[in-house]
Amino acid sequence: MIIAEHLEQTYMSGGHPLTVLSDINLTVEPQGFLAIVGPSGSGKTTLLGLLAGLDRPTAGRVVLDGEDLGPLTEDARARLRGEKVGFVFQTFQLIPTLTALENVLVPIELRPRAADRVENPEQRGRELLTRVGLGERTHHYPAQLSGGEQQRVALARAFANNPKVLFADEPTGNLDGDTGHAVIDLLVALNTEARTTLVLVTHDQELAQRAHQVVRLSGGKLVT
Ligand SMILES: Nc1ncnc2c1ncn2[C@@H]1O[C@H](COP(=O)(O)OP(=O)(O)O)[C@@H](O)[C@H]1O
Ligand SMILES: [Mg+2]
Repeated sequence: MIIAEHLEQTYMSGGHPLTVLSDINLTVEPQGFLAIVGPSGSGKTTLLGLLAGLDRPTAGRVVLDGEDLGPLTEDARARLRGEKVGFVFQTFQLIPTLTALENVLVPIELRPRAADRVENPEQRGRELLTRVGLGERTHHYPAQLSGGEQQRVALARAFANNPKVLFADEPTGNLDGDTGHAVIDLLVALNTEARTTLVLVTHDQELAQRAHQVVRLSGGKLVT
């Protein structure tokens, strides 16, 4: 589902090149579950951004669901993400002026091709919120929800478009232990039910052990 070959990312920083990832090679099978671990600053978020087509590498290539991202324009990559990819972030990233239900509907409404849109988005949104235990909270705004509840809304939103791949960047980083565990149990269960491929960045060893495959980054390189 994902192939990365010889990925390199170099930023210009104060007039000097700074290589934050070098020679990254990995493969994730369809319905696989890859955990990316490593210390802060080791390049985890940068790698996730390259695999998801948010950014382009300075060298190497990413193939996502059979499509080489290299030749694609920014617009084409955005369209591909809309069709195939879901995201969950450490800081939830809900839109504060929208209710829980409206947040979940955002990716459905942004669906690039009308033919791909779900028939009854509102019903789908309610079902997803019920699945994450928030069936009674559909009209609440993010500020009226706890951190764990906000992240569960974000999970429902991430699955709204039936993505092929879900990318999660330290999704429990802003939650306390018990709340974080509940969110992860839900993430893993939804992932299994929806047969999604999951790529997860985490600091949590226990969580990484639930993955099928773990890679460790150190100073921008994969180490074993
Ligand atoms: N846009 C950027 N420009 C310059 N340096 C960056 C940029 N994005 C990330 N970095 C640097 O790349 C390194 C890796 O960052 P990141 O991928 O966020 O690590 P992690 O997620 O593992 O904490 C850090 O040293 C960071 O400062
Ligand atoms: Mg990070």
